[in-house]
This record gives sequence, C-alpha cells and structure tokens, in this order.
Amino acid sequence: MARKKTLRDVHLSGQPTLVRVDFNVPLEDGKITDETRIQGALPTIQALLDAGCPVTLCSHLGRPKGKPDPQFSLKPVAERLAEALDAPVTMAPDCIGDEVAQMRSDLGAGEVLLLENTRFHAGEEANDADFARALAGNAELFVDDAFGSMHRAHASTVGVTEFIGACVAGMLVGKELDALAKCRAASGDGFIVILGGAKVEEKINAITQMLPRVEKLIIGGAMAWAFFKVMGREVGASLCKDSSVEAAAQIMKKMDDELLARMMLPLDVHMKQVKPDTGETKFADAAAIEPGWNALDIGPKTRDEYGRIIRDEAEIVFWNGPMGYFEEAPFDEGTLAVARALADTKAFTVVGGGDSVAAVTQICYEDDMSHISTGGGASLEYVQGDTLPGVEALDEA
Ligand code: 3PG
Repeated sequence: MARKKTLRDVHLSGQPTLVRVDFNVPLEDGKITDETRIQGALPTIQALLDAGCPVTLCSHLGRPKGKPDPQFSLKPVAERLAEALDAPVTMAPDCIGDEVAQMRSDLGAGEVLLLENTRFHAGEEANDADFARALAGNAELFVDDAFGSMHRAHASTVGVTEFIGACVAGMLVGKELDALAKCRAASGDGFIVILGGAKVEEKINAITQMLPRVEKLIIGGAMAWAFFKVMGREVGASLCKDSSVEAAAQIMKKMDDELLARMMLPLDVHMKQVKPDTGETKFADAAAIEPGWNALDIGPKTRDEYGRIIRDEAEIVFWNGPMGYFEEAPFDEGTLAVARALADTKAFTVVGGGDSVAAVTQICYEDDMSHISTGGGASLEYVQGDTLPGVEALDEA
C-alpha cells in the first residue's frame, strides 16, 4: 500500500480545516465514562490550533439511524473537549445546513467548532455525495484522525475527500497504523490472536484470514458456545444464535484439521442456572454444560491454559473481545485473567475493542500494554489484512 500523507506532509498556513475524529465515546446518563478517544484526538487538534487553523470537528456517536436523537448528541463531548483543550469549543446545532455553514465561515484562527452527530443524517452512512459536499463545506484541508471509524466507507470518512483539496491522516491514525503494522505483518510461531465476544458471524473473516498466520487462535466469549454446538455438545441455556452457529459451521467445514488444531476453545466454563432461575453458579467442563444452565465465562482451567500460552509462548499478541459476560461479576474473571496475562508477558501486546480495553484499564494495566487501540472493528480489520476505506481515501505521499 502506498504511503498516505499525514499532517507532517502539509504546510499549515491557517487554512480552514475539517477534522474527522472518533468521538463515539461511551455515555451513561449523559456523562462520558471513558474519554480515551477524546484524549487520543488532542495532539492533532492542538497542532492545527497552534498553526492558526479554524478547526471544524465532525464525528458520529452511537447508531441513531439517520435522524436526530438527543441521546446521541455530541454536546457532552464539546464540554469535555473544552476542558481538555483549555479553550472554548462551540457546539453546532447540526453538521450541515445554512446556519452551520455560516458558523464555519465565521470561525476565526485557532477556534474550534464541533459539529453535531453526522449520523443524524441518513446521507452519512449511505456515503451520499450531496451530504458529503455539504459536510466538506469551506474546508481546504481534511484531516482524518478517526482511527476507530477508518473501516467505515461513510460520507465523513470517504465521501468528503472528493470535495476537499488536501486529505491527510492525523497523528492518532499515524500512531495506530505504526503499532498495528507489526500485528498485520506477523505470522508463524509466537503470533497469538485472542478473539472474544458473542458473535462468530462478526469475526468469521478474522478467524478464516488469521488461522493460517497464527501459532494459536484463542477463542473466548459466547462465540465459543457456537463452536461447541457444531461439535454436537450440549450448550444448555447459553447465548447461541443460529447465525453464530452457521458461521461456526462454515469455519469448521472450510478449514483443514491442521488449521483447526490452532484454534483453542475453552476447556471449561463458568455457568449460572437460569431454568429454573436459582441463580446458582458453578464451573463445568466444556463438554458438560447442563440443560437450563447458561455459560457466561471461561472457567479456571481455561484461564490457566490461555494465560500460560500468552505468558510462555507469545511473541506478538493481538486481543479483541471479552472472554465472557464482562459486565457482571464474577463473569468478568476470564477477561480480567487474560488482561493480567497480557500485562505479564514479555511479548508485544496490542489490545483493541471496547470491553478488552475496559478490562485492561479496570485493573490499571494500560501502561503494561505495547499499544491500546482506539478502534475495535478497525484494528481487527487492519490486522486481519483488510484495507481500510478511510485510509485508502487519503492522498498518497
Ligand atoms: C467504534 O466504536 O468501533 C467506532 O466508533 C465505529 O462505530 P460503528 O461500529 O457504530 O460504526
């Protein structure tokens, strides 16, 4: 892939700039619960402000389905960003339209305007040209620093580049691509990939593209139960959607025995009785899940074995997705055990994806990781070898 231009390749001379950031932050009762993505965008924003650029920021937040929805407003982000920059941040009432266009042309050198959620318009996800032109507005420079959204071919990540003269990667995107390049290029002994989460169908490409490259592919989370079902095991009342079982069956049919042997499935589980709903919990071997019981996490034998592989065999580890129902203790123990093993290993460690990153930060291990990605889906797609539309759309150096 040809090298893409970055902010360093641009002569900044106060040109009106549109920056795509990923401010898709978790919110609870209107409060931001994790501001990693805001912090990640600061160096690029600050560099543009220092160079006297009027800076217009745009982002999506959540999945509001193409129309305004107050619960997905970026207003709380504007307030937090103003504190972090120690400078005023004006919040626009929308991301396009006459009033917003006027606000953008009135924006002075070194001033910041945050546009309202781009997904309040259907044109964003449809990558509609008219919407993209309006979003591009008066910008002479487009900086894409939204690493977490680089795998989306939307108007704010791809479409706008048709309407702005210079389109470059921001500093966060540069840092992410440098760190992830090591995992993207990795193969063979010592390359361990850990995939968790509920849906095999969302990870089917990752599994099929990475199995030939890894020493071991560790599977955790509810997607493991789909593989159990294909193997003819009882899964009781565990989360196991038909679409996940179909995806697991496809993988097992497509891959030969040598590749399938690289896939590590849980040896045991931590489960809860739900029918009848006694709330009782216990550990069981993977082949001994009982009817009426819901497997919610990997068990202690699995934690030990996965931990041993990560500590003793790994040279490069890439982790995406929780090992169990991380939201509810004690079913967070499997995910936390994997986070601990990553903190202990001497391997190069990269973590991407909301719950995996939350596990690492919950036990304050972030400094022990080689890289924590701000993008879950984007980092996975990049590491599995796909091209990211948002990167492709930028100018070549
Ligand atoms: C993310 O949180 O992974 C990115 O912001 C992309 O969000 P999306 O999956 O809703 O496109």
